[in-house]
Amino acid sequence: MIKPFENPIYITRPIMPDYEDLASRIQSLYDSRMLTNLGPYHQKLEEKLQEFLQVAYLSLFNNATIGLITALKALDLPFVSEVITTPFTFAATPHAIVWNGLKPVFCDIEPKTMTIDPEKIEAHITSNTSAILGVHVYGFPCKVDQISDISIAHNLKVMYDGAHAFSTKIDQESICSYGDITVLSFHATKLFHTLEGGALVYNDHSLHKKVKNLRNFGIQDEFKVTDIGINGKMNEVQAMFGLLNLSLVREEQNKRKLIADIYRNRLTVHDAIHIPEMPECTTDSLQYFPILIEDHRDLVYKVLREYNIHARKYFYPPCTDYDCYQHLGSRESLPVTYDIADKVLCLPFYGSLGYENANIICDVIEIALNKAS
Ligand SMILES: Cc1ncc(COP(=O)(O)O)c(C=O)c1O
Repeated sequence: MIKPFENPIYITRPIMPDYEDLASRIQSLYDSRMLTNLGPYHQKLEEKLQEFLQVAYLSLFNNATIGLITALKALDLPFVSEVITTPFTFAATPHAIVWNGLKPVFCDIEPKTMTIDPEKIEAHITSNTSAILGVHVYGFPCKVDQISDISIAHNLKVMYDGAHAFSTKIDQESICSYGDITVLSFHATKLFHTLEGGALVYNDHSLHKKVKNLRNFGIQDEFKVTDIGINGKMNEVQAMFGLLNLSLVREEQNKRKLIADIYRNRLTVHDAIHIPEMPECTTDSLQYFPILIEDHRDLVYKVLREYNIHARKYFYPPCTDYDCYQHLGSRESLPVTYDIADKVLCLPFYGSLGYENANIICDVIEIALNKAS
């Protein structure tokens, strides 16, 4: 007889640095009083992340949402032009477009990777389209080569929301090397985190100067402001957490791999459950574990809650159900998005979950499916 968990099992549990390590570094902040404004921890974390991810340029941000807003601004898109994106994402993606005075145009996703469907992008391109903003949802890579071909043919910028794709690789190359800019999130719920935080990653040196300038109010030097910038700076405590957490990421990924194996082995036997698989040649960053449940997703979600297991219906509802975007898409115009949003459930997924708890979660899913039949 399975009993409900005494303490909630959430979808994730952040990695934490060793307390003594952290305390000794905090002491250095008391000594230096250098708390923010691109201090030594900030500088070191940018270098370490560049090395870890094997990317040309990386600029830290205080969160990915400000990163998205700044990235779109850095691309210098014509005011009120249209950016083609997907509604199968977190609110921050379309919101960043609108905060730039641009218009989101919602394109459907394709069923295997749940990312923007390149076959459907061209139908949305008008003389007013300036960019494509793909989302590497759950770390599944967008179809980057096809998107690149479309962007070249139509002279469009390409940006990626890679909030879920820290360390994802395609053919051993960082996912961040595709498109003009990729945005990463280092929020506490992410695999690698800096409490709150994010980064912009790109290959173009001129973009580097622009992004750094925009991140710091557009201030070029003590007496000169050259751009309408924002405060996107990551502070020293965030950067310090990041430096310590970075050394824990590989071990966390290894533990998550074992949890993923349990879920896969236990859940694929059910006809009602489909587990989306990463495309070949992709290195999964292991940030989320989404499953698709035919017909009974809401029942499984409810039964898991009865056992104090907090699986999440990411991303249900799609952004086109929000009051602010309802006029920009519907179940009829975005059939695959709505189909996946109706079926998806992200299971608790973190290293310290442990095999026993992962197995209990599978047992509870079985109980729910038995109730349904
Ligand atoms: C796809 C996506 N984009 C952007 C964000 C925003 O990230 P942040 O919380 O770092 O601003 C999130 C947050 O979870 C997300 O899932």
